[in-house]
Amino acid sequence: MSLSIIILAAGKGTRMRSDLPKVLHKLGGRPLLWHVLQTAQQFTDARIHVVIGHRAREVQESFSAADVEWVVQDKQLGTGHAVAQAMPGIADDDSVLVMYGDIPLIRQSTLAPLCAIAEQGFLGLLTAELVDPTGYGRILHHADGSISGVVEEKDASASERSIREVNTGFIAAPAAKLRRWIDVLDNNNAQGEFYLTDVAARAVADGVSVRGLSAESVDDVLGINDRLQLAEQEQRYRNRCAVECMRDGVTLIDPTRFDLRGQLQAGEDVIIDINAVLEGDVRLGNRVSIGPNVVLRNVEVGDGTSILANCVIEDAVIGKGVRIGPFARVRPETRLADNTHVGNFVEIKKSDVGAGSKINHLSYIGDTTIGRDANIGAGTITCNYDGASKHRTVIGDDVFIGSDTQLVAPVEVGAGATIGAGSTITKDAPAGELTLSRSGQETRKGWQRPKKKK
Ligand code: UD1
Ligand code: CA
Repeated sequence: MSLSIIILAAGKGTRMRSDLPKVLHKLGGRPLLWHVLQTAQQFTDARIHVVIGHRAREVQESFSAADVEWVVQDKQLGTGHAVAQAMPGIADDDSVLVMYGDIPLIRQSTLAPLCAIAEQGFLGLLTAELVDPTGYGRILHHADGSISGVVEEKDASASERSIREVNTGFIAAPAAKLRRWIDVLDNNNAQGEFYLTDVAARAVADGVSVRGLSAESVDDVLGINDRLQLAEQEQRYRNRCAVECMRDGVTLIDPTRFDLRGQLQAGEDVIIDINAVLEGDVRLGNRVSIGPNVVLRNVEVGDGTSILANCVIEDAVIGKGVRIGPFARVRPETRLADNTHVGNFVEIKKSDVGAGSKINHLSYIGDTTIGRDANIGAGTITCNYDGASKHRTVIGDDVFIGSDTQLVAPVEVGAGATIGAGSTITKDAPAGELTLSRSGQETRKGWQRPKKKK
């Protein structure tokens, strides 16, 4: 006996008012369905079946690497009909868990006991007590307290609508029984749909007990139907990530102003100031400090490095004891070795900066290799692009580049060379020598500055 998971993701998501299929809308930087798949995959032996319909190809292509069975539901005739499409691929002795593509914060630990109910041969419904149950199916009980069925909001009587115990949508059942109940569903209801929820009444009629499992956290089972709910769940997701980071020993100056949209691996005594956005895969060493308003995307940062306020760093590897910013931009394929300094209004792209080198002010460094302990003066520009192709600049160890220098690539500055301020370097500069290109200075004696007439 094993577990089959069916994820319902065929709906259009009309209330999103969007061209994008609902399950591709992003929460924490990743599609809703990604989150659901992550949770489903925590059941390591389960087979996952995803029911798609609206813009099916687009949804499938967004997860082309996922190890799942894609099932197409051509017409969205209801949740029961959606589950029916996946049933032919599921063995009779499996347990089936139904998940929803638009409920991203559900946890595996909430679903595991639901699956256990199915393994015992019963129908399990994950329920929740909501202050405002509007829109949800309500749980109905027999006089003895056992569950008798689920009624959808649109089919419910006034008294049924006052019930606050709702169907979260997650159900688990033995496959053979579920198949039997699904096969006899009808669409005689207010929406003319085949309701999955009707299996509850079928189970009761079949003499199979329906067991409600109350979700430990209501927030985790809320679905996303419109952009307001998307923002609310984003806030909860942000909070959940912040709590996990703090439990892992990261100091967040204000957890409500911290956005992790990917994975963070952090060493000891990392401090992150307000409004940091961390995307993709971010690794921070011990004692790293991140200033306010910093964006890091796929970045590795070594021990003791400080990233000061308002930096944007993407696809870069940063060494130990580095200081970056404030206001620096480090673009993809950049490596900053240990103890480098990158200061304000510096942009670096596709470059290697050797240990101890400094680029402290107002520079553009692109397609460049810089050796160790070089000093790149304020306003240095590598002219890497001739309008057609990119060219490399190579700067050796211990080079001193004077301020306001243009290095017209391809060009090489030898180790220990000095470049005089204000130079435009178009040919290689030899190691150990002073090279400069500068027009002579002149003074015009007695020259008068024009004056405004009163
Ligand atoms: C459903 C439940 C309701 C529950 C609520 C919880 C039914 C009949 N009702 O209502 O009891 O309280 O979820 O959020 O099950 N889908 C398909 N194919 C279809 C129809 C839907 O794949 O033909 C998918 C949707 O993409 C969505 C999910 O099933 O991911 C739920 O469908 P939705 O229409 O949102 O159901 P609700 O009306 O919210
Ligand atoms: Ca819904």
